[in-house]
Amino acid sequence: MRIAPFALERWFAEVEADADVMLAESGVRPLAAARFDTDPGGLGYVIPTAGDAGFRATVGDHHDRSAEETLFTCGTQEANLLAFLTLVEDHAVVVTPTYGSLTGLPEALGEVTRVPLEAPDWTLDPDAIAGAIEPDTDVVVVANPNNPTGRYHDAATMRAVYEHCADNGTYLLCDEVYRLLAPEPIAPVASFGRYGISTGGVSKAFGLAGLRFGWLCGPRAVLAAAANWKDYTTIAPPKIGHHVARQAFENRESILEENRAHVAGNRTRLESFLEAYGLAWSDPDCGVNAFLEVPDGFAGGESFCRSLLAEESVVLAPGEAFDRPAWVRIGFGLVREELETGLSRLGAFLDRHG
Ligand SMILES: Cc1ncc(COP(=O)(O)O)c(C=O)c1O
Repeated sequence: MRIAPFALERWFAEVEADADVMLAESGVRPLAAARFDTDPGGLGYVIPTAGDAGFRATVGDHHDRSAEETLFTCGTQEANLLAFLTLVEDHAVVVTPTYGSLTGLPEALGEVTRVPLEAPDWTLDPDAIAGAIEPDTDVVVVANPNNPTGRYHDAATMRAVYEHCADNGTYLLCDEVYRLLAPEPIAPVASFGRYGISTGGVSKAFGLAGLRFGWLCGPRAVLAAAANWKDYTTIAPPKIGHHVARQAFENRESILEENRAHVAGNRTRLESFLEAYGLAWSDPDCGVNAFLEVPDGFAGGESFCRSLLAEESVVLAPGEAFDRPAWVRIGFGLVREELETGLSRLGAFLDRHG
């Protein structure tokens, strides 16, 4: 099996450590560990290794699923990995642009048909999914809310996509790691029926990426097969991550309210900056990511990002990492002062190149 390099992670590995401002971080600024009890007692494995049954029942309930239909993982990343290892034998349909693992993993395991979202709206057409599904399609993959555009496909669209999947006996896997940032999130795909699977975690909406904690919710048979794979990957979720994530999930209303308010303020600030500079963007509905159109005078996203980095020590993510070279991704979930520094340097750069 061969897997393509994860272009976005390779870009960050090359530039992030030495740059002054990270303006492409895809999560909400991290919460302080001091807000939580960080002592889980003994540092053995989490037992049972799927995760505490009571906590799984709570997360499962949120998805209209039981504890047995919920598996705790090392981040959403592992939840997606286990889902793909379980599901992809022949063919997957993936809505793009999207987070790199949602194309890279299925492409390593089988054939992939990409269904592209297009500017300026980046909306999802359920009929395009129907047209891409083949008799041997194992799974359709959507990140909703989308990374990198921030588009949040509505309930009717997701239901229509689900019906097309169910008609063909195909699973719908929805990466919902940004879902709880929406003030009124639509129902999770795992609650749609027997072909619905949701992945998520506390990295993005909660601002707790360092916990490396996530979940996979879906039909019992899929979960059992994923748990079998997990015995070979990480065995159990991280003990401290599990301990703190439980507190965060119990207090989710107040944490999410705080994070949503933070993100809304930053979004308003970014929007007025982009208006002032006349830059087109994907106008995100939800989350902390947006695509910005590369202004005239640059060969593409990577050329824009490399010039900005060299001149202002600010990191954006090149659209080439998402197969969209005319765009760059910005992340606006960071601490407000850092956002201000990043925007003022980006503004100085644009003034020089205008
Ligand atoms: C859509 C999406 N899914 C999953 C991940 C990875 O999440 P986690 O930190 O929970 O593993 C990311 C990270 O950027 C993401 O954007």
